[in-house]
Amino acid sequence: MRFPEDVPVLTDGVVTLRAHSADDIDTVFEMCQDPVMQRWTTIPVPYLREHAVGFLTEQIPAGWRENTGWSWAIEYDGAYAGTVGLHDGEGGVGEIGFAVGPAVRGQGVMTRAARLAVRYAFDELDWTRVIWRAFVGNWASRRVAWKTGFRDLVTIPDGGRARGVREDEWVASVSRGDELEPQGNWWTVPVLEDGGVRLRRLRETDARRVQEACSDERTQYWLTGMPSPYELSDAEKFIAGETAGQASGRVVSWAIADAVSDELLGNVSIFDLDNRFDPTSGEIGYWAHPDARGRKVMTTAVRLVIAHAFTPIADGGLGRRRLVLHAADGNTASAHVAEATGFTLVGTERLASPRRDGTHNNLLTFDLLQTDHATDPPAKTI
Ligand SMILES: CC(C)(COP(=O)(O)OP(=O)(O)OC[C@H]1O[C@@H](n2cnc3c(N)ncnc32)[C@H](O)[C@@H]1OP(=O)(O)O)[C@@H](O)C(=O)NCCC(=O)NCCS
Repeated sequence: MRFPEDVPVLTDGVVTLRAHSADDIDTVFEMCQDPVMQRWTTIPVPYLREHAVGFLTEQIPAGWRENTGWSWAIEYDGAYAGTVGLHDGEGGVGEIGFAVGPAVRGQGVMTRAARLAVRYAFDELDWTRVIWRAFVGNWASRRVAWKTGFRDLVTIPDGGRARGVREDEWVASVSRGDELEPQGNWWTVPVLEDGGVRLRRLRETDARRVQEACSDERTQYWLTGMPSPYELSDAEKFIAGETAGQASGRVVSWAIADAVSDELLGNVSIFDLDNRFDPTSGEIGYWAHPDARGRKVMTTAVRLVIAHAFTPIADGGLGRRRLVLHAADGNTASAHVAEATGFTLVGTERLASPRRDGTHNNLLTFDLLQTDHATDPPAKTI
């Protein structure tokens, strides 16, 4: 193809993809000074003006001329907003890469541009699959990929490389014929508040309190799946894992915090939300910091999440029909929370709960149906 004459202009009426021109050099140079751009992409750091010149006047035109790379300038609101490109398409499977400037982020510009580029890959380049890759932690990029229909996300430890340094990488893909729409739920974590406790999302700064709570003798005794000893790095991994689980539709996990000091008092979660056989059920799990025990914190927290679980998805809830809760036989405090929040003991699974010494406890199974709960007053959502 000739550059720029043969570069197709693609538009959805809001965002337009067009050939880059030398007029974009200053904006690209400026955009690449952005720390977010430098953190999540493989651009040279420090980024010099000559890098922008080489990118726009050599690298991108060569891609189009040699049929090896297809990059467009993203035009939004009458100005250059960023770049989206397709590359490495040998054998009909290739990759997408993208970036937009800080001023336009969060307005859906990238998602629109990505959708146009992916359609071009399937319809004009005859690709059968488009791959998206991002460094782990690049949530904005992951969200764009999810909204554009990328699926089957996996994490590859040390799978990515920027400026000679290996980093963990997320990889997902979309194939020809797939809907370019989100697959599965990306749950949000609403703030729920009642009786002096506030349920909110877990933050990295909660790690120390998580470590304290999970190192506690009683927690360690009953929750045998927890690492022992429980290090600060385990707490950090837990927080990151719950956040990732929300994005993949598996779990919603809250920090139970003191409504005044905001200090973490425990954790409550609803997990198994993506159960293949029954996507209308969920399981409740929890633990409390020793500071917070004996003052109805967990009962209050579980009541709040039950109400959220049974609220229809269209109204911002989880649309559950049934909740289940397990407690090792003998864990009186946990069984008490289950009963106090309306759960029914429906069975005892024999020797189903491992102890750390290799022996097993019986496991109590409680359940709660939406129809049991329907008459309870709704929890307060803020
Ligand atoms: C990734 C990037 C291109 C997204 O551009 P954008 O125009 O903001 O994208 P969109 O507005 O279409 O979508 C971004 C979504 O991420 C969400 N988001 C942003 N930060 C987030 C975070 N920390 N956690 C969760 N979601 C986040 C936004 O809310 C938005 O979702 P919504 O529309 O459902 O609210 C932009 O952030 C960027 O240029 N980053 C630097 C370069 C880069 O990372 N490129 C990708 C390399 S793989």
